Amino acid sequence: MTVQSMDPAAAAETTLRAAAAKAGLFFGVAASPNRLHSIVGQEFNQLTPENDMKPDRIATSSGGLQNTSGADNLVNHAQANNMLVRGHTLVWHSQAGALQGASQATLNTFIGNAINRWGSRIAYWDVVNEALEDNNTGRRRNQWPHTMNRDANGDGDFFDSGDTDVIRDSFIRAKQVVQAGGLTTKLCINDYDVEGLTVQGGTPNRKANALYDIVRNYRQYIDCVGFQAHFNDNPNSIITDDLQANIQRFADLGVEVHISELDIDDDLSNNDIGTGQAENYRKVVRACLNVAKCTGITVWGIADSESWRSSERGLLFTGSNGNYQKKAAYHAVLDELNKGRNSTPPPTTPPVTPSVPPTTPPVGPTTPPPTTPPPTTPPNPTTPPNPTTGCSATVSLNSWTGGFVATVRVTAGAAPISGWSVQLTLPSGVTVTNAWNANRSGSSGTVQFSNVSYNGSVNAGQSTEFGFQGVGTATGLSPVCTAT
Ligand code: XIL
Repeated sequence: MTVQSMDPAAAAETTLRAAAAKAGLFFGVAASPNRLHSIVGQEFNQLTPENDMKPDRIATSSGGLQNTSGADNLVNHAQANNMLVRGHTLVWHSQAGALQGASQATLNTFIGNAINRWGSRIAYWDVVNEALEDNNTGRRRNQWPHTMNRDANGDGDFFDSGDTDVIRDSFIRAKQVVQAGGLTTKLCINDYDVEGLTVQGGTPNRKANALYDIVRNYRQYIDCVGFQAHFNDNPNSIITDDLQANIQRFADLGVEVHISELDIDDDLSNNDIGTGQAENYRKVVRACLNVAKCTGITVWGIADSESWRSSERGLLFTGSNGNYQKKAAYHAVLDELNKGRNSTPPPTTPPVTPSVPPTTPPVGPTTPPPTTPPPTTPPNPTTPPNPTTGCSATVSLNSWTGGFVATVRVTAGAAPISGWSVQLTLPSGVTVTNAWNANRSGSSGTVQFSNVSYNGSVNAGQSTEFGFQGVGTATGLSPVCTAT
């Protein structure tokens, strides 16, 4: 965030990259070596290799590197044009090439080779891509490399020390390589259909919740989350009004959030690639701008005709091959970026908070995964933890004029609990508009939250978090936790 972005008199920037930089985020593009036209460096300040860093391009079956020239070209071009690079991607079921079916040991070899070759020039890297199943099941994919997973104790998750997990183990490996090389590369997990808290019809977005669980549990290795944002008219792929709240809840875990592969199908604006599509772009850009830790947006290509989904006409330019024309969506994005992070927020918009860089503890080769993250919030003095059983809860608030986001941490006492409920009495004038990672009853006065299926079990002394958003001024909240 910059001072200029708060100054309404400041002249509007005329490129996406300049406007984004002023607002304190990157605006990037997916690129290939044959499409490095001048527009790439003019309009964008971040580059993601669209295909040239995928295992099918660069990995040998033993985890070595081959055919590196495309990736080298892209990284060189980015550097020459002062663009950040988002590496894409190390572990993925698709486009795996010679790595298809490889063991964790081979994946680890590949991770080491790739990071050691390009890491010093790569700001962010997708370590694991698309780990979760389609159709809003909330499950992981049941295909390589996820079939390497072993939920040893059969409790439905992969987070216990006896479990092995390709997601965790790949991040541990990547983090080791980054730390051993003294690199600053941030490690991301990336997926699609995880953008909203809900999907069409208001059904909870179980895929997003599953991603949230992974990030929460492996937070010490994961620095950033990519929401691919290939928006289209599939019921699980639409743009929902709770996009911003979902970005916020991941940001509240301390990770950076990126809109990492943005395109917006013209079906979402009745085939209108003018104002209708432009408004959709505006919504997405605004949701990111309104969350301080949403630190970048990447569009998945330059022009509609050159997109991986060209018939959807989902990008910011028409034309081709270096001769591009700006669409209405381009002008809307530029305009929204120029408003910066500080435009007057709508009533249910979370505030801009200063970005706190995540602190990453060193990773040893045999570091076991945490079963749940350590508490970071001091206990609320009004509800001391029960020393023997039960649970306690603390709340932290992000408030702005007219609204707030609350994050509630539930901590088990000296014994494990298998369910919890938290009661909160809201001041008059406060209304809860939505909640995540909890069931809710009531929206004003006394409101009750209880665990959902995946976060009821909390080990002794461990914690889980849920959140809610509301309008009004929330002060003096004293949550009361009951183990159920
Ligand atoms: C796509 C590319 O755009 C295409 O050129 C390629 O043929 C297939 O992959 N999710 C991802 C990207 O993470 O890597 C995919 O890119 C699009 C979906």
